[in-house]
Amino acid sequence: MSELVRFGVSLEKGLLDKFDLLIREKKYTNRSEALRDLIRQELVKKQWEEDSEVAGAITFVYDHHKRELVNRVIDIQHDFQNIIVSSQHIHLDHDNCLEIVALRGNAREVEMVADMLRSVRGVRYGTLSMSSIGRDID
Ligand code: NI
Repeated sequence: MSELVRFGVSLEKGLLDKFDLLIREKKYTNRSEALRDLIRQELVKKQWEEDSEVAGAITFVYDHHKRELVNRVIDIQHDFQNIIVSSQHIHLDHDNCLEIVALRGNAREVEMVADMLRSVRGVRYGTLSMSSIGRDID
């Protein structure tokens, strides 16, 4: 962590009121912590846009009775084991499975794997959580 620097910010009263309301709703204890997170959010967004090395998690739900779908999901994960760090399978109920796949790699490639998994026929819902490997965000 680098040294702390203080700086003044001027903004419209209305905007500051909205910011304070927002950070209260999001349970931040102070403006500095909220502002840090907003800046990091933008830095992480930039890392994804610039195809930097990122970390992410793909979460998707599917019906495991569809064998063809299950095979496809497994094939994709084998094809990209170079960037898939781990995957977890959760049996939600009799029909539904939830799978969480953690990845570390270049942003485009991680997005591609997410698109491939989400678009397998029969996958009910899928999301990509775009995160960071933790470098260059503080
Ligand atoms: Ni299952």
